[in-house]
Order: sequence, then structure tokens, then C-alpha cells
Amino acid sequence: MKKFYSFNRALGISLVFLIFFNSAKAQTYAENGMVVSDNVIASQVGVDILKKGGNAVDAAIATAFALEVTHPEAGNIGGGGFMVFLNSAGDVTTFDFREKAPLAASPTMFLDENGKIKDNSNHKGLLAVGVPGTVAGLYLAHQKYGKLPWADLVKPSVELAKKGFTMSWGLYNAAVSVSDRDPSEDIMKDYFHGENGEIVKPGETWKQPALAKTLKLIQKHGRDGFYKGEVAQEIEDYMKANGGIITKEDLEKYEAVEREPLKGSFNGYDIYSMPPPSSGGVALIEMMNLMEEANISEIEFNSTAYVHLVAEAMRRGFADRAEFLGDPDFNLDMPLDKLLSKDFAKKRFENINMKKASISDPAQYGHPYDGTNTTHFSVVDKDGNAISMTYTLENSYGVKMGSSKLGFIFNNEMGDFNPVPGETTTTGQIGSNPNLVAPEKRMLSSMTPTIVTKDGKPYLVIGSPGGRTIINTVFQTVLNVLAYDMRIDRAIEAMKIHHQWLPDRLLYEQNLLSPDTRDTLEKMGHTLIPTTNIGVLMGITYDASKKLYTGASDSSSEDGGVRAY
Ligand code: DON
Repeated sequence: MKKFYSFNRALGISLVFLIFFNSAKAQTYAENGMVVSDNVIASQVGVDILKKGGNAVDAAIATAFALEVTHPEAGNIGGGGFMVFLNSAGDVTTFDFREKAPLAASPTMFLDENGKIKDNSNHKGLLAVGVPGTVAGLYLAHQKYGKLPWADLVKPSVELAKKGFTMSWGLYNAAVSVSDRDPSEDIMKDYFHGENGEIVKPGETWKQPALAKTLKLIQKHGRDGFYKGEVAQEIEDYMKANGGIITKEDLEKYEAVEREPLKGSFNGYDIYSMPPPSSGGVALIEMMNLMEEANISEIEFNSTAYVHLVAEAMRRGFADRAEFLGDPDFNLDMPLDKLLSKDFAKKRFENINMKKASISDPAQYGHPYDGTNTTHFSVVDKDGNAISMTYTLENSYGVKMGSSKLGFIFNNEMGDFNPVPGETTTTGQIGSNPNLVAPEKRMLSSMTPTIVTKDGKPYLVIGSPGGRTIINTVFQTVLNVLAYDMRIDRAIEAMKIHHQWLPDRLLYEQNLLSPDTRDTLEKMGHTLIPTTNIGVLMGITYDASKKLYTGASDSSSEDGGVRAY
């Protein structure tokens, strides 16, 4: 969504930025495929793969590795995520490469003797690191559906890391603030530094030789280049030396999983999204069902009724998320069929009072907002294959720790587990059973990579970062396209709100909701909180009659952009 500050700055800064990133364009068209990501260099890597005859899966893999190099705050090999894949025959599958808790993990591992979270340890320090899944996930997707050789897909990233690329203002600003904030002796200390020992400046070339070496091993040995051999050994050694618990055994045992997608519908469109361990698909489909029940298209966009109804749908979707959802391998009785049914939406809709806000009660059944960065990209190819992929380190630059010999940063995804068993609070901490820590369990996610189809053809490929706000950002953008017929760039930029059951408050993007509407919503019982920006969406729509893709990247992405073929 709009972030005026960054947009103005983009206009105001040097010509170099405009030449390199051309980020002011609202939408881009293509006939043969496109990649929309948080970094235009990575988008170009993906498009180059399409031009070499690769399919959308190949392009996604190459883009994902490139983002590790060019967008390291969230692009990663040290984290995990989810991929939704629609093939040209209209079949959809998903890949789950969410991180897992290490074998030595336990439900109370983050608590002190008083049962309180010790020193923010679920987010800070190496206990917060989940066993990374990204390389395994990309490798599995390639084995199943890739077309070009694996080595060709990793090669561009090896080159980018080895030969370097031009430091952008966005990355430079992040580099300064991360180095300021975390002057530890760990990897972040020299992460962005050039040979002269200074942070590489905008316009200069930033090289990452250690990362190039790690990527080269992955290029050569595939999955084993990360989970076995010298990389695995160094991960174990680094963990041991710095208080972590991940071992070679954890790495060797890690498996990515191909899972059936969740399928929902809205007014004749089919919606495919991630099943658990992401909560995104369940909540999205549940909320879209409520909107169908409410006949949302008849309610004016951004009116009081719109904001109220959408917020009440979010409140209910998030309460159900907190009560029922977790890793499916550990929660065999999740009532997914019920949560996704139109009947359930009917009953849920009946108790929405259009004149009054409901109350979120922690005793019956939320987590504060999650970290600051994740990244989403969308890919389509000339045959109608489409990929929607979101992956993350949880916080921006994850746990801000990693071995300088390996050159990548670890996630702090363990913070997505419910940290205190049984404790659900009005401030939004959730303590329900389905998402407590257990060895080899995947932590619940909000990532919502989504593909909407019409008559078996791609219609919308969409996703976003933003922690818990992801679900709601994707929800409103899908609604903007399907119910309000907005062009993709407008759907992405339109005003977004966020309600997550607990805490019981309604975030809205400031300057985009009229004071009169806010006043009425407050009188109805909503607690309104302004925020600068919700979501960083990367989306593609397809017009089957013109055989034309339209792509747009959120203007709040510093270096994001569309590359077309
Ligand atoms: O999986 C999740 O839901 C979170 N770890 C995602 C974190 C995130 O999106 C932070 N980004 N803005």
C-alpha cells in the first residue's frame, strides 16, 4: 500500500535510482510471462530464466535465490516459506518449506522460572532459530516440476553474490539502520561492508564472497549442499559456539512437503491458497465466504459499512485461527472442512451486528503484530503456469545472526509459536494448544500466497509480507479485484485496514479513511489506530480474452518491480 514518504523520496533522490529501479510505473503488461518481486534485479533474474525456456517454477526458484543476495532482509536460504503452483492444465499444488522446531525444543523453552518469556528469547538469540526450509522447498519444487537444470537456476545468484551488484538507496538505508541497531560481533557487523571496511554506498558495488561460496555448494550439490557436508557442519559448529541448539541431525532430517492446496470460491472465481501450517488460506477463504454472504459488492468501497463488515470478518477469522490452527502433522483434528464451508460463514455472518462492533474476548478466544519483514513474489509464464510464493526470516534480517563463513542470516521464526502455554491475553498473546512448541513441529504462519482462477486459467496471483497483517492485506486485495473490479495496481494501493481479534483494535492507513467515517466507526465501538502502511503486495492479473498479463508492485517496496517478457 501507499507509503507517501518512500514514494516522494523515490522521486526526490538521485537520477541513478530512477534509472535503475523505474519504480513509479503503476502497472506493466506482458504476453509471455512476468515476475513481480521486492527487488527488480531478482525479477530480472526470473525473467531471464523464462527467456531461456524455463517455466514459472524455474523462474521462481531463480528469483528466490536472487532475493537472498539482493533483498537479504527477507529473501533467504536461512528461513522458510510457502509456494502455490498453478499449472497450465489448471491443477494446483503447494510446497510447504516452513521452518521446524529443532529436536531439542520444548513447549516451555522460552520461559523463566516464573513462567514469563525470558529476555525475548523467542525472537532474540539462537534459540529463536527454526531449522531452515527454503533450500529443501526450492529443491523439491524443482525435482517435481522444474524444466531447466538446477545449476542454471542457482547460477545467477552465485554470480550476483560473487561479482556484486549496485547498492540501492533502499538497501543502503537498511544497512545503516541495521548496523546502528546491532553493533554485535556477529555477522551483521560487517555484513554490508566493502573492502575498505565502510558500508558500501549507493551506486557502489556490493559483493558477498562468503555467500557466493555457500550458493556455489548448493548449485553443485542441490539440497545436500545445504543440509549435509561443510555447510551443515558449519551451521552446527556456529550454533554450538553461540548458544543455539540446531544440529546436523536436525538439518539432515528436514523435509519440505508438497501439500494439497485449500480451495475456496467467491462469486464464480476459485481461490487457491496455503493450508496449515499457514493460517493464511483458512482465514482468507473463511473471510471471503463471509463477504459472499454479505453481498459485499453492493456495499460502497471505503464506506463505514465496508470497514465495519470487513473488520468484523477479520475479527472472526483471527479468533478461529487462534483457537484451531497449527502444524497439521501435530493437529490431526483441525476442523478445516467446517471452517471453510459456506454453511459456517452463514452462521458466522448472522451474529455480525451492522450497527455495533463485537467484542474480542480472550477468555473465549490473537499475538501482537509480527515482525517487520517477509517477501512475496508472483510469477507467470507463457503457458499459463503461475507461482505465488512468500518466504521469510520472520523479523527484518531475521535473528541478525549467522556464520560469517557462510554469509547468510538465520531466521527467528520460533517466535511464531505460542510462547506461553495456556496464556491468551488482551494484548494479543495467544496460548492455545495447536501452536505450542514441540520437537520437529512447524510454527503457525500467516503467509498467504494465493492464486485465483477463472475457468481453470490464472486470474489473480497475489501475496504480501506483514506478519499477521498479511492475511488481511491479501484478503482486501482479492476483494478489491473480485468484488470491486479494481485494476491490480489500484487494488494494491487502495486503503487497507487490519483487525486480528486481539488486541481489539482496528488499524487503518492514515490519510486514506475520511474523518467522518472514522468518527462513525468509533461511535459503533471500534478502537481506531492510524498506521503509515499495511502490506507490500506483488500481484499479477490475467485477461484471458486479450491473453495479457498485468503486473504491479506495491509503491511501498523500495526496490521492488515488475519485469516482463
Ligand atoms: O510466518 C509468518 O506469519 C511470519 N513469520 C511472517 C513475518 C512477516 O511477515 C514480517 N513481515 N513483514
